[in-house]
Amino acid sequence: MCGIIGIASNKPVSVNIINSLKKLEYRGYDSAGLATLTDNNINEKKCSGRVEELEKILFKTPSNGNIGIGHVRWATHGVPNSLNAHPHSSDQVSVVHNGIIENSDEIKKELEAKGIKFKSQTDTEVVTLLITEELKNNKPLDSVFKTLKKLKGSFALGIIFKNFANIIIGARRGSPLAVGYAKEENYIGSDSYALKSMTNKISYLDDGELCILTKDEVNFYDTKLKKVNKKIFTLSEDEASTDKGEYKHFMLKEIVEQPDTVKNCIDEYIDSIKKNINILNFPIEPQNINKIVLIGCGTAYNSCLTAKYWFEELTSIDVEIDIASEFRYRKLKFNSNNLYIFVSQSGETADTAAALDICKKNNVKTCSIVNVIESTIARNSDWVLPIYAGIEIGVASTKAFLGQLTVLYIMCLKLAFLRKDINEDTYIKNIRNLKKLPDAIKKCLKSENNIQLMAKEFISAKGSMFLGRGSSYPIALEGALKLKELSYLHAEGYPAGEMKHGPLALIEEGLPVIVIAPKDKYFEKTISNMQEVIARGGKILFITDNKKESLNENIRFGFRVPHIDNLLTPILLTLPLQMLAYHVALLKNCDVDKPRNLAKSVTVE
Ligand code: G6P
Repeated sequence: MCGIIGIASNKPVSVNIINSLKKLEYRGYDSAGLATLTDNNINEKKCSGRVEELEKILFKTPSNGNIGIGHVRWATHGVPNSLNAHPHSSDQVSVVHNGIIENSDEIKKELEAKGIKFKSQTDTEVVTLLITEELKNNKPLDSVFKTLKKLKGSFALGIIFKNFANIIIGARRGSPLAVGYAKEENYIGSDSYALKSMTNKISYLDDGELCILTKDEVNFYDTKLKKVNKKIFTLSEDEASTDKGEYKHFMLKEIVEQPDTVKNCIDEYIDSIKKNINILNFPIEPQNINKIVLIGCGTAYNSCLTAKYWFEELTSIDVEIDIASEFRYRKLKFNSNNLYIFVSQSGETADTAAALDICKKNNVKTCSIVNVIESTIARNSDWVLPIYAGIEIGVASTKAFLGQLTVLYIMCLKLAFLRKDINEDTYIKNIRNLKKLPDAIKKCLKSENNIQLMAKEFISAKGSMFLGRGSSYPIALEGALKLKELSYLHAEGYPAGEMKHGPLALIEEGLPVIVIAPKDKYFEKTISNMQEVIARGGKILFITDNKKESLNENIRFGFRVPHIDNLLTPILLTLPLQMLAYHVALLKNCDVDKPRNLAKSVTVE
């Protein structure tokens, strides 16, 4: 997963390329580069590290040219150095690529056998050199088309040509590619966000499609190279949310925004006057749903696991959950009365998108819960429930997690009511409780000082464990995921009851163990599991909503979240864990918004 941008204009493009690359850095940030065309020469600049470094190079030696492409990289083939950074250019073409060319080794051998030399260790360079070969006998579009036929894998490509100085060709298979339109300027980009400061008029390439853009027009072609027309979308205005404002990090801003995120989401779905949930047109008649299958990756998977507890508690529907990268390769028995729900913040995660495609091929009904409504996953599913969280920039997901949980909970309530699994009183009571959630989240955020103290316990820790039972178990997983993503500290999330089957061996004097123990039916059991940890020297950080539980000498720190009702508690328990991960990362001087080796939108397998 890398970010690509291309601009064809009537004025120099390098500054706008850099600005767009800064926005695309969430997709990868281990190296950056750009190429522009000046006097029919390909002028390439690239470096390892962040876009800031590339900007410094351009400051010293500016790049002119009214047409250009740019790239931010998340290394797959070859270490992140300036040689492997994109673009990859020959004397004829320059290419930026997001995705993976799976048969690059084979192609490389064939080209090397013809005496063609490679400069980098990347899979992308085969694209550059194949197009260069084809250009000997073909025009640019045919050269790219013929090259694409030889490639296996997933990609979005942006290509400029030394001898055709007014065009950029874009192509898409698997990885997303947006096209933007402005006056005497047109664009390609990995997403609409990268183009947003330049235009709000956007189209999206479908799988297998190509496009040619000049500054004046864009033409699209299908998989058979037949011209096609594209719908143009107008993006909504939410530029404010793309700015850090008074906050030191996007992640902090996004944590603090959560009362509003959840409120927006509730306002979108709840009709307060009629005390009803505005979710209509389930793709399968609610009474006929046989099973719900929830699928996602990373944090989105943790929201699927949390929702499983809700669906089981409130409805009579059978629920399965799966990690998308596993789902897509399993031998599954599809059933047309099963509803397959895909949860994804970006709506572009390659494994989740592939799992959705498999469902579509098997003619089953799909629903997506996404933050980006123009995304591939949203566009490809039968039914979309947006989370209305606004753009999330911090690589580690926070507000999108709460948004996903809120929508899943709302959907679960509505289904339970429509199926008569819960009566009207319970339905209305639960809606009323839900509306208390934003204020309760606000209260959690007020106790940040407490978390800062807790965070100090992790400075010299070798690792940590997060324990919970029932719906606190997925929250333990999410807490551990946040901590490892942000602070590079080993963290394990475990069902507290499983400790004695192995993980207890890890407990030693002073190991931080975060025990998540709301006052639910598991409370006493979790406390017993906690005692087993205390007996072996674990340092307990205790998170609960139980007013009665007084902290004792065996508990190093405690954090109390407000109580609304047990079903909503997992959402509130998430807050201290997000803040903990944030503060540990700060103390360890880690890059909070761009953790090492990660990227926000994972568009490769
Ligand atoms: C990456 C991100 C995670 C995210 C996961 C799934 O790993 O770093 O924060 O949870 O992808 O992303 P999605 O966009 O599908 O929710």
